Amino acid sequence: MTEHLSPFSQHRPKRSADSLRSARWFGRDELRSFGHRSRAKQLGLDRDDWEGKPVIGILNTWSDLNTCHMHFRVLAEQIKRGILKAGGLPMEIPVMSVGESFTKPTSMLYRNFLAMETEESLRSNPLDAAVLMGGCDKTTPALLMGALSMNLPVVYVPAGPMLKGNWRGETLGSGSDVWKYWDEKRAGNLSDEAWCEIEDGIARSPGHCMTMGTASTMTALAETLGFSLPGASSIPASDSAHIRMAVRSGKLAVDCAWHDWKPSDFITRESFENAITVDMAIGGSTNAIVHLIAVAGRAGLPLPLDDFDAISRKTPHLADLRPAGKYLMEDFYFAGGLPALLNAMGDLLHRDCLTVNGRTLGENFKDAAIHNEKVIRPRANPVAESGGTAVLRGNLCPDGAVIKHAAADPELLTHTGPALVFEDYPDLKARLDDPDLPVTPDSILVLKNAGPKGAPGMPEWGMLPLPKKLLEAGVRDMVRLSDARMSGTSYGTCVLHIAPESALGGPLALVRDGDRITLDVPNRTLTLEVSDDELAARRAAWSPPAPHYARGYGKLYLDHVTQAHEGCDFDFLHHGPPTPEPAIF
Ligand code: FES
Repeated sequence: MTEHLSPFSQHRPKRSADSLRSARWFGRDELRSFGHRSRAKQLGLDRDDWEGKPVIGILNTWSDLNTCHMHFRVLAEQIKRGILKAGGLPMEIPVMSVGESFTKPTSMLYRNFLAMETEESLRSNPLDAAVLMGGCDKTTPALLMGALSMNLPVVYVPAGPMLKGNWRGETLGSGSDVWKYWDEKRAGNLSDEAWCEIEDGIARSPGHCMTMGTASTMTALAETLGFSLPGASSIPASDSAHIRMAVRSGKLAVDCAWHDWKPSDFITRESFENAITVDMAIGGSTNAIVHLIAVAGRAGLPLPLDDFDAISRKTPHLADLRPAGKYLMEDFYFAGGLPALLNAMGDLLHRDCLTVNGRTLGENFKDAAIHNEKVIRPRANPVAESGGTAVLRGNLCPDGAVIKHAAADPELLTHTGPALVFEDYPDLKARLDDPDLPVTPDSILVLKNAGPKGAPGMPEWGMLPLPKKLLEAGVRDMVRLSDARMSGTSYGTCVLHIAPESALGGPLALVRDGDRITLDVPNRTLTLEVSDDELAARRAAWSPPAPHYARGYGKLYLDHVTQAHEGCDFDFLHHGPPTPEPAIF
């Protein structure tokens, strides 16, 4: 990467030191400022450590239980080095880690928690700008949501993907190969010994999942939106270039603080159109739809589901990355990374959108070249002529549903079959492998009560496992429907995010075993072939499931979470009148 610190002065003059936000805490001749200064000295700081300098927060999502961020303690020190080099005062603040692997019942339950913690950590502390450290799935949208709501200058430092996995010389991809080899194990084709070897080799280094799953998708979209230095999201976590990027991000945050260069200065409707376009070009995770809607909502920019479908139809799929393709993030980086892809997209993007370094997106990537056209395809030779995600409508999903058809069996994209209904995930676990399960390859597996309120937290249950007896018969894909999400590393003919969800009495709640359902992806429809009169009768007999929580954060979540097509943010966190700065008395 080249040097990217930008002359912000073309947009806004440098502010005076006494106008810095932190000067309200440290710079006054009054009792409270005395308290703040004396406590800063408790840290071992002298006045010249802060006087005339911006204070830069480092919001660190490190924990031992977020293995994707296992390098963040060391990385934070490098960010501090950049901040100090640029004449700022770094202050590290821990925020909720929200690791994808260990957080139960699902990390999605806590995305909004981290978003709130981010916003309030930025607001309540003496910060002039911040570096946000994230990467594992929910951390990127959460940090951006909080930052947009607070609207303080921020630079996003993505964790970077981990190195490729390896098993007996075969490349392993996070998630995708777990599902693949688990199916082979259940079908009796893989030994326990081989399964243990895969366990050893699939996560070899620091960093987030290295497929184009949710983490790689969201960090790429954060960069496209303009929150990161150019190329930052593609650098493997273990590469020394990643450290250099972190140092430069710290320096940039100081520059942003001096020029008060906030997200509202560069985030526009066009920035989000770019993000949706890139999501389609990289074959990104379906989770990006929910997250982008939520992030845009914090900026007061509605993103209807139909925008995703419209952009998908006209955007070629260019990055050949798993699970919708062949390669992994390390290959993507060496092929030129996101800047090369953006440059290859040409007029599909709004190149004049501004970014965190004060330059336009087009200026940032104008010199980036593709080094491997197998991994990043030129527009003349795309992986597919259109994007990999479709939005469905119909009487089964009045508020929409999504499918990643690029990662599905093409034969199943137009399919009618009988429903086999599971009332919830425990019901699925209990019955799926029953040899007497009345299932055929034509069946459509239906999972209810897996949405934002019903699960709760809309877990990644949407790639329903296939019944063992079908796996043993060689079946590897079926049509599956739910109000859940699915991992960005997953694949298969899985209709997701059905809204309204079944726990709210959406039509999904009314489906019964044997009902005929038609999936028609070319025509973007999902139809329950049951008469309106019959559905009305079923609705009259329906009663909602008992809520999962009666108190605490879970109760707050159930009371305020919105549906998938609205981003699953809390209704009271959407864009609104500015929240006042804290009084300092
Ligand atoms: Fe963190 Fe996959 S587990 S990104």
